[in-house]
Amino acid sequence: MSRPCLTLTLTLTASFVAAPIHAGEANPIIGERPAIQNHVDQDDVDSGKLRLSDLLQSGGVLFNARFNTLDGQGRPGSTGTGAPRTPDQPAFIRTSSPEANACSGCHVQPRSGGAGDFVANVFVLAQALDPVTFSVSPEFSDERNTLGMMGGGPIEMLAREMTSELIAIRDAATREAAASGSPATKDLVAKGVSFGRITVLEDGVVDPTEIDGVDWDLIVKPFHQKGAVVSIREFTNNAMNHHHGMQSVERFGLDTDPDLDGYENELTVGDITAATLWQAALDTPVQVLPENKARRAAARRGAQVFDSIGCTSCHVPALELRSPYFTEPNPYNPPGNLVPDDVPAPFLFDMTKDGPPPRLPRSASGGAWVRAFTDLKRHDLNDAEFDHFANEQVPQGTLAGFASDSDFTIPAPPRPTREFLTRKLWDAGNSDPYGHRGDLTTLTEAIYWHGGEARSSRDTFFDLAQNDQNAVIEFLKSLLVLPEPPAPPTAIRARRPVGLR
Ligand code: HEC
Ligand code: HEC
Repeated sequence: MSRPCLTLTLTLTASFVAAPIHAGEANPIIGERPAIQNHVDQDDVDSGKLRLSDLLQSGGVLFNARFNTLDGQGRPGSTGTGAPRTPDQPAFIRTSSPEANACSGCHVQPRSGGAGDFVANVFVLAQALDPVTFSVSPEFSDERNTLGMMGGGPIEMLAREMTSELIAIRDAATREAAASGSPATKDLVAKGVSFGRITVLEDGVVDPTEIDGVDWDLIVKPFHQKGAVVSIREFTNNAMNHHHGMQSVERFGLDTDPDLDGYENELTVGDITAATLWQAALDTPVQVLPENKARRAAARRGAQVFDSIGCTSCHVPALELRSPYFTEPNPYNPPGNLVPDDVPAPFLFDMTKDGPPPRLPRSASGGAWVRAFTDLKRHDLNDAEFDHFANEQVPQGTLAGFASDSDFTIPAPPRPTREFLTRKLWDAGNSDPYGHRGDLTTLTEAIYWHGGEARSSRDTFFDLAQNDQNAVIEFLKSLLVLPEPPAPPTAIRARRPVGLR
């Protein structure tokens, strides 16, 4: 089945690439028109002509755009991974997608950029199937709930700094092994989080058997609940194609039409930069203490209980960034995404000063605090008794990450289906439903299913007196994405969740 080709097609693609969104409409189109009429030129980003405020405006337009045929929505001739397919796919299909009109169709809770309802779940990896599947059975895809991007910029920068620390440890082990002529073993610790140990042989080959909770390439991938994507940019290139059939030039090439929909250059490099920066600069979630006195007291006490029963061993309350800057693009981006060598200088902004508030608080040493309650590490929360989080069947990539199998002493197995990144809890108050599938309606249910590595802290939680359990829940409910920035309500007391050291 092919879609009718609207006559405006070629004129539109040709004339609208490369004009900044604020150029005004000298020759307005009367009648049907694409959602994005003016695209962002990366040259204007690189030359400094476009400032952060311009790019945030354009990025917001892109994130909220409900793409239509005239934008090049849909991908009749390719799958959600870009692989060619028989062009017989409908414009929309709920399972393997395109399944949404806009990024904000799913990311909308409590407002654009945020998390999503169960109905906004994605059947991750169904997008690779050809012919397309009409089934939501777990043998075909991993059903995941929509996450919020508020604080996504700080999360990406934490992962980058942790990656550089882990790679420095591997490099030191490599040098030591080469110099001594025998294997060298080192602890892999980044920002106080332990990722096991690494052994490097004399010839530089890595024995990965003790690496824990991170891919063997040691690149901390903080996106996807599986820990599979490096940057907001990589995710945006993926999501634009997967969910909307909108191909970016940096991923799919200039003047090509890989999805056979009659449109080329659907998204410019500058568009992806703008959409990325908009997500990266979103306000960070904060603690909003309840106005009711009893609830407020419970939230304060709950933070201490949360710490004392071991929840903070994974849900680390705060990690410190050495630098407060977000820089774009990410040096660890895989091929198919812009990297620093592609631009004269990275675009940067200060996450403690720029973008909509609330922003990250500065740290005493000139960096910034990220109070996200995660260690950005994968854990297995399943055991014989509690196995709700072991529902998936389709592995998402392999543990090698972007490295090649020959870099390691053994072939890389698939990424474990039972392990997930420690969920960020800084938006726990309004990112329900819970769990990676979004099938748990209360925080208590999510805690109930913490078996495996979290079993002892889970059991301690359920051994607590009911009022202590209630206090932990009240604390988690106080961690929020503000419903309406940028005018924060007066009830915000502190960036540091009250009650925690
Ligand atoms: C059909 C719903 C849906 C649409 C449309 C959608 N997303 Fe998502 N998004 C999700 C889900 C579900 C996840 C979680 C995926 C996972 O954990 O595997 C997610 C995760 C993300 C993440 C990673 C967040 C994290 O912390 O791991 C980013 C970034 C993102 N989406 C960006 C986008 C952009 C940009 C668009 C538009 C081009 C978009 N999404 C469109 C549902 C959607
Ligand atoms: C061993 C590490 C670990 C420990 C300890 C731990 N968690 Fe978690 N937590 C996780 C992981 C991993 C997830 C993601 C589970 C999933 O969806 O697959 C998670 C998810 C959650 C969620 C769901 C959030 C959401 O938005 O879906 C809540 C709530 C939560 N944890 C609270 C707690 C509490 C309270 C404690 C202490 C009793 C605790 N956790 C201890 C690792 C841990």
